[in-house]
Amino acid sequence: MKTLQVALGERAYAIHIGSGLVGDPQWITPHLAGQQALVVTNETVAPLYLDGVLESLAGIRHHHLVLPDGERFKTLDTVNLVFDKLLTERHDRHTTLIALGGGVVGDITGFAAACYQRGVAFIQIPTTLLAQVDSSVGGKTGVNHPLGKNMIGAFHQPRVVVADTDTLDTLDDRQLRAGLAEVIKYGLIGDRDFFDWLERHMDALLERQPALMSEAIRRSCQNKAEVVAADEREAGRRALLNLGHTFGHAIETGMGYGAWLHGEAVAAGMMLAARMSVGLGWLPAAAAARTEALLRRAGLPTTVPASLSAARALDLMAVDKKVQDGRLRLVLLRDIGEAVVTADFSPGDITATWESAASDAAATTATPQGA
Ligand code: NAD
Ligand code: GLY
Repeated sequence: MKTLQVALGERAYAIHIGSGLVGDPQWITPHLAGQQALVVTNETVAPLYLDGVLESLAGIRHHHLVLPDGERFKTLDTVNLVFDKLLTERHDRHTTLIALGGGVVGDITGFAAACYQRGVAFIQIPTTLLAQVDSSVGGKTGVNHPLGKNMIGAFHQPRVVVADTDTLDTLDDRQLRAGLAEVIKYGLIGDRDFFDWLERHMDALLERQPALMSEAIRRSCQNKAEVVAADEREAGRRALLNLGHTFGHAIETGMGYGAWLHGEAVAAGMMLAARMSVGLGWLPAAAAARTEALLRRAGLPTTVPASLSAARALDLMAVDKKVQDGRLRLVLLRDIGEAVVTADFSPGDITATWESAASDAAATTATPQGA
């Protein structure tokens, strides 16, 4: 078992990564705010892991809520279901919400916890690779709006993150690959050694070799924890964690939430960022080629959906949290392991990048399975 700390002063918390953690009360009960809890999960995860979590709450007054599964349910209406349950069951300000599931459940539950009675405690038990390496850490919570991804939300840190690597055994390959996109992201942003390590071990990670998977999660969480501790509310450096996300969010929103998985859209978005960086003369073409090769080995898309035009994508990208005074900023690359936030480009650069990716897309099959 590995434990990392997110160093946030009075809001500091631990990330536990290991096997057999779900169902063991020692990782959860010390972090409850009081004697009541609500476990929020979804219809896919509940039959797999809910009983274990409920057993670990023996002696605590607890309830659970099973949500429908899917990115399209990451809405204010679903958050309202959480409030309905909390109020119906008379939970007070000392309750603790426990998110059991992937990033969708985590984001919804965290946001409900941020809002309920002006803020109650919450715990993350992430069960997808993506949630274990990214969404459960850092306190970004929220839901989508039809006009923009993750546009309604709050910063609200969990009290502990319990990442049980056994839960990944039931994850399908497509979801595993989507999680690997966020893992590769950390290498690209600021950890060149990790990128090299991923190049060496990608095949073993796809085979889910436990020791390597656990190390990939640890290294990813370490990267994220450092950035979050330095810039909790994204005044600066934390924006780098959004590499590929502005392009990716345009794909997710433009294609309809859930058509492309978040990780798949981020993978394509990172490749667009690399292409654009090469086009601007910032990134050596060889570094972009390595990026593309690693994403492809991970089975991730590296091109844009044929049905989403550059003009529509540009329009969607205008609704981005990195827009400042009407000016879009993007995370681009100067090298592998060196990302920058910049507004030093023109809309024409985005259009040209998108269109060149689209023309390559016509000649490749590297789009997500099932998208
Ligand atoms: P998800 O939550 O939709 O989970 C993917 C699928 O896997 C779902 O069908 C889910 O029910 C299923 N699942 C979950 N755990 C499982 C398990 N152990 N075995 C079998 N199936 C399982 O998607 P995700 O990729 O986990 O998260 C994506 C979401 O996270 C997006 O909404 C994205 O915006 C958000 N996100 C948030 C942050 C943040 O900082 N808050 C960061 C990155 C992504
Ligand atoms: N996923 C981006 C962040 O947590 O800041």
